[in-house]
Amino acid sequence: MKIDQNRKININSHKCTGCGFCVTVCPDNVFALSAGKVTIAGEKCIECGHCIAVCPEQAITCDLLTNILEFKTFAEKTDWIPYGKSNISDFVQLLRSRRSCRNYIAKPVSRDLLEDLVKIGTTAPSGTNSQAWTFTILQSRKEVIKFGGKVSAFYRNLNRKAENPVLRLLAKCFLGDSLGKYYRTYYESIAQGLREWEEEGKDRLFHGATSIILIGSTTEASCPAEDAMLATQNILIAAHAMGLGTCLIGFAVEAIKRDKTLTRYLSLSSNNTTYSVIAIGYPAEKYKQVTGRKKIIPFYPEL
Ligand SMILES: Cc1cc2nc3c(=O)[nH]c(=O)nc-3n(C[C@H](O)[C@H](O)[C@H](O)COP(=O)(O)O)c2cc1C
Repeated sequence: MKIDQNRKININSHKCTGCGFCVTVCPDNVFALSAGKVTIAGEKCIECGHCIAVCPEQAITCDLLTNILEFKTFAEKTDWIPYGKSNISDFVQLLRSRRSCRNYIAKPVSRDLLEDLVKIGTTAPSGTNSQAWTFTILQSRKEVIKFGGKVSAFYRNLNRKAENPVLRLLAKCFLGDSLGKYYRTYYESIAQGLREWEEEGKDRLFHGATSIILIGSTTEASCPAEDAMLATQNILIAAHAMGLGTCLIGFAVEAIKRDKTLTRYLSLSSNNTTYSVIAIGYPAEKYKQVTGRKKIIPFYPEL
């Protein structure tokens, strides 16, 4: 594959001092040193931007990569933080302060905030830098409720099937025991959630969130699930820093995976797989302290 001319990397030979830093950091061997200057030698480039970030003379540009993210709700800082120069205590405290939020106030989240979150999502790494992720935003509580109605319909239908012992047995014989497992694990709590939704308007699915971001990947991604989940984690952490609560909603992901009418309802293209659904809103809950996690004992194989 030749380097695409529209995405061409330009080297300003007047500025280039031939330090060779770009040669060292490039994962694709795009650059070579010749007569004290850097030249393009490779045929393949994943457009990661390492060369631009490392060049002390700002001699390298690429149209595709010079755009700043243009955040609307906070000031963008573009200086690179050197290794070890950020505050790890603050960072870990932020990570630990994020909690899955299941109580929200009715205040809507602005489009600017949601779009800034998406941009923050895209700062995550992606396999071969494909960045083939998709972000679908349901901005208003009204849209969240309508989508919730569709997801509920999927689970009402699934519960109807799962409560039938003959169907469970037949499914077990021909398709494996997933319907039986669903019945034993989720049937009762889903039935309860659906009852509360119908009788009391209580939203056990999206917990009253006012917005949703769905994150998916297209078939162009080399690591679709990983890319989507890394972007997801960025968004969860950033949302906390921006005053928003979030909760991943695996039940909605599962419904989208199994029910193509939901894909159509959301106007998602057929080459798009949804990996996460994030409920977002202004939190109606506060915590006093962070909590712990299960103890992990790292394993060191004797090699
Ligand atoms: C893949 C995934 C799916 C999840 N699905 C749901 C869900 O459908 N509903 C919900 O209330 N929480 C859901 N959660 C949130 C977990 O329950 C939560 O992360 C876990 O209890 C740890 O709590 P914390 O997020 O506050 O640290 C999900 C989390 C993950 C990672």
